[in-house]
Amino acid sequence: MVASTESPFKPDILKGKVALITGGASGIGFEISTQLGKHGASVAVMGRRKQVLQSAVSVLQSLSIPAVGFEGDVRKQEDAARVVDLTFKHFGRIDILVNAAAGNFLAAAEDLSPNGFRTVLDIDSVGTFTMCHEALKYLKKGAPGRNSSSGGLIINISATLHYGASWYQIHVSAAKAAVDSTTRNLALEWGTDYDIRVNGIAPGPIGETPGMSKLAPEEIGSRGRDEMPLYKLGEKWDIAMAALYLASDAGKYINGDTMVVDGGLWLSRPRYLPKEAVRQVSREVEKRSRNEPIGVPKSKL
Ligand code: HXC
Repeated sequence: MVASTESPFKPDILKGKVALITGGASGIGFEISTQLGKHGASVAVMGRRKQVLQSAVSVLQSLSIPAVGFEGDVRKQEDAARVVDLTFKHFGRIDILVNAAAGNFLAAAEDLSPNGFRTVLDIDSVGTFTMCHEALKYLKKGAPGRNSSSGGLIINISATLHYGASWYQIHVSAAKAAVDSTTRNLALEWGTDYDIRVNGIAPGPIGETPGMSKLAPEEIGSRGRDEMPLYKLGEKWDIAMAALYLASDAGKYINGDTMVVDGGLWLSRPRYLPKEAVRQVSREVEKRSRNEPIGVPKSKL
């Protein structure tokens, strides 16, 4: 796949906006930080690892993006509160909160300890809610730095694992189901009361991310892809463009939705009959059904 680097959006669509991105120093989160910044936003990134944060901020600054990094763990409410306040102090307002921090590993349900299950829910689900909870006072309409008629935007990074069921991902499936539910409930309550839009993005498999290296390590390679006819690896850029769309005025009427960005992968079903066979068999069945009810042998009529 050819790497997409040119954005179809105008470079000033987020001019004057301030975005706080959790997990914003690596993987999908970092690409979202970069693209929001390239389109005019000032960017605060939150993460647990000091060095990763520092190098992300230097890259953003080298692109002339006003950027700052704050160390913190979304599992700790005091970290969430501190980072949200520091972001406000640094930039004077907060318009966009992106919850991209997440935790994952492959584990069969029977091998997963309750603490392993809880850890992922703590990061993904409770962490997302905690950040929203702490950022509300800056995102609502009339908040300091905002005008009285418009509220901000929250984007929660989700997944499609829980649309059905996923092998060895019971913890993440449960966590992301809670994230989607949180997205809809906040969209209802905070959309109504504070003019805040709350949406999600559910990425498919995205190349060169910590998630992919954990879920499809080289040792297991591409096994299983034959079962998924729509399997195509996406790029971090694809997810960042979806975030830009939601954050721009183009997305102003979208609230409570989780946008699936996976090339249709979650709809994949193995083809159980060749197309040619369908053409032949289908006509035959039609012909027969005109003469006798389908499924009832002639002898029984
Ligand atoms: C079974 C495991 C395990 C494994 C950890 N645990 N790894 N169980 N198999 N491979 C269990 C531990 O035994 C422990 O339970 C509990 O989980 C907590 O583990 P810790 O190592 O103490 O936790 P911590 O240091 O806080 O690390 C959290 C983490 C880690 C989630 C385990 O991987 C992490 O920090 N991840 C953040 C980065 C990340 O994962 N990025 C990828 C996101 S991708 P016990 O009972 O022993 O105490 C993504 C994509 C989702 O989210 C959608 C894909 C389509």
